[in-house]
Amino acid sequence: MYPRTITLNDCQFKTYLFEEEIIARITMLADQLNTDYAEKRPLFLAVLNGSFMFAADLMKRIGVSCDIAFIRLSSYQDMASTGKVKEILGLTENLDGRHVVVLEDIVDTGHTVNSLLQQLQQKNPASLEVATLLLKPECLQHKIDIKYVAKAIPNDFVVGYGLDYNGLGRNLRDIYKIVS
Ligand code: IMP
Repeated sequence: MYPRTITLNDCQFKTYLFEEEIIARITMLADQLNTDYAEKRPLFLAVLNGSFMFAADLMKRIGVSCDIAFIRLSSYQDMASTGKVKEILGLTENLDGRHVVVLEDIVDTGHTVNSLLQQLQQKNPASLEVATLLLKPECLQHKIDIKYVAKAIPNDFVVGYGLDYNGLGRNLRDIYKIVS
């Protein structure tokens, strides 16, 4: 497999993670979750839009009884000291006493997931964890424990496999990084 260069809007991107590696890493993550959540009937909460491909490929490999629901986050909100608080949209499930696993596409500064976890914690889940496809450890600005990470990556902007650049690139089967 050779790296491919593509142009999205005004930027060039080069192949960074091929589909085969993404799927292999998701399979390892699913194995971990199948072990940790046996008999717990977890509720997976996939954060749209970015996590749709990750959620689909992960869920195909989850063998334990589980529920899946989809939420979105509003794009504005009042400022807290840690950044923008994004309101949860579309959450109809009762989290009381449930083992909840949030599915994220990427954790960068951690502002988004930190705010999300704080709001979900108030709904009294039995446990609350995050499974993310990608994590940029150098960028993380919160002391949050991201227990399930398919791949840690450097501080590069990436697109593909659900992730977008100004709306483009979500459909790509591989992940590309920006050419600097
Ligand atoms: P955070 O709040 O800084 O952790 O950012 C999380 C959100 O920013 C993700 O859910 C993405 O929507 C977006 N994001 C962060 N880094 C990237 C990237 O490299 N490519 C595409 N979107 C990104």
